[in-house]
Amino acid sequence: MLQTGRLPVQTKGNQLLDYTRTAETFDWRSVESAFSWSVTGRVNTAYEAIDRHVDEGRGEQIALQYSDPSRNEQLTFAEMKANSNRFANVLRKYNVKKGDRVFIFMPRVPEFYTSFFGVIKVGAIVGPLFEAFMEEAVKDRIADSEASVLVTTPDLLPRVPRQELHSLKHVIIVGNDVDHGNDNIISYYKEMKEASTDGEPEWVDREDPMIIHYTSGSTGKPKGVVHAHNAMIQHYQTGKWVLDLQPEDIYWCTADPGWVTGTSYGIFAPWLNGVTNVIRGGRFSPGDWYQTLEKNKVTVWYSAPTALRMLMAAGDELIRNYDLSSIRHILSVGEPLNPEVIRWGMKVYGKRIHDTWWMTETGAILIANYPQMEIKPGSMGKPFPGIRAAIIDDEGNELPPNQMGNLAIQTPWPSLMREIWKNPQKYQEYFRLKGWYISGDSAYMDEEGYFWFQGRLDDVINTSGERVGPFEVESKLVEHPAVAEAGVIGKPDPVRGQIIKAFVSLRDGYQPSDELKEEIRQFVKNGLAAHAAPREIEFKDKLPKTRSGKIMRRVLKAWELGLPTGDLSTLED
Ligand code: PRX
Repeated sequence: MLQTGRLPVQTKGNQLLDYTRTAETFDWRSVESAFSWSVTGRVNTAYEAIDRHVDEGRGEQIALQYSDPSRNEQLTFAEMKANSNRFANVLRKYNVKKGDRVFIFMPRVPEFYTSFFGVIKVGAIVGPLFEAFMEEAVKDRIADSEASVLVTTPDLLPRVPRQELHSLKHVIIVGNDVDHGNDNIISYYKEMKEASTDGEPEWVDREDPMIIHYTSGSTGKPKGVVHAHNAMIQHYQTGKWVLDLQPEDIYWCTADPGWVTGTSYGIFAPWLNGVTNVIRGGRFSPGDWYQTLEKNKVTVWYSAPTALRMLMAAGDELIRNYDLSSIRHILSVGEPLNPEVIRWGMKVYGKRIHDTWWMTETGAILIANYPQMEIKPGSMGKPFPGIRAAIIDDEGNELPPNQMGNLAIQTPWPSLMREIWKNPQKYQEYFRLKGWYISGDSAYMDEEGYFWFQGRLDDVINTSGERVGPFEVESKLVEHPAVAEAGVIGKPDPVRGQIIKAFVSLRDGYQPSDELKEEIRQFVKNGLAAHAAPREIEFKDKLPKTRSGKIMRRVLKAWELGLPTGDLSTLED
């Protein structure tokens, strides 16, 4: 990759961090004193993120600033504490216990966050679901985790196949017209009105599980990545040093809490640091986004490359209609951040955009461009203090600078996932080289210790920053009556990073047509989610397969990119 100059530090950032010195001397244990449990020994992340601010006199500060044209609402830390206590009491009433899984399938409304902390307060494991998930995506996740309670809205309820979800004991509906005829349907508003605001959180162990996020790999259905309360240490400290959160900040993270960025940095990092958190649901729209920044006087803004590229495409003229002078610090995550976007950001916002790198499994930021660092556009930055990243070969040997290899992190760190739900074998695969977590990304490190992303080493697709497993899409495709076989790959795309492309062979009696393509696309969209539906479908008489019948995505990719197909000795015929 071309290294295109450097962008010098513009803002002073958090004065506490002198990166080069801190990186050598930093010890994670030094962060523990920031939490009440270092004194009391009683741990619950919900307490540290919400209740503690009330106990320490910050109860009247705005915690949640809901930014929606139809419903302007602000909640203080005191109100968040009271509401989440109420919800915890509702869950207790229905016998939800420590370790139970409670899922939340809801748009980003204030009730989402109340429920979220209520679940954590009873010591249960919270499972946030992306609001755009359709029936099958919802079913797979609830069934795998054997969740006993689901919180959802009347609009989304039809996508929950309750008859097939035997573990589900109760469904809590956030809506006005709730049919109580069915005894496992509970009305959120009715119960909340009756519930007490009293009660202490369930004190748990730091290592007890707190949250489960489903994410995709190259094979099999999405897997449940489990994080422990202990992750708060890293959420807090990266919030301080990477997001540069200061008490008076107004922060906006654009990610949905169905994805890990939307919880680690949309919920935990800002509230552990006690800042005002802007919450905005709805779809992407350049004008609405600028309005959100302007109206709320956002100071720290965490977003993603696809959104930034779309804002860039919307034109610089639009930006002149808004006063964005409140912005102090901009960050990005999820996909490679183009140098071009960084240069555009300098021009239109007058600020550098700081890339950060991490994954669902890592729980929090591991590599970043700090406010105090020079940025080399195109590089993900340097490891966080206390994190040792390296480029290793397939035997676990560290490679010298400028050689491409596996991006690996020395284990452990505070927010590292603690298990893959009911799948210890999958978990172990990440740690197959002793002492290392293997990310699945390829990268290189330059002489100055900056890391440069090169690509994924597996078949995982990253479309608009959303991680999609080809297997999940292929499984859905072959359920369509016309589809005999399907192979799915990520195809490079200038705006979305990648788009999903499906190669499909048809069953006898079906003829290729544009209508059929559209019908198949809709079928995946209605079954899984819009972002998982292939934007392109190509019909083929036959798909390349191994003798054991496995579709060779590598060959499909080579076809697509016009590259040599490589070793075909395992091909079926
Ligand atoms: O390939 C890397 C890419 O996103 C993957 C992780 O996806 P997910 O678990 O959904 O988490 C996304 C946000 C935490 C990584 O394996 N990725 C993440 N950040 C970057 C990135 N690729 C390039 N540059 C980044 N900064």
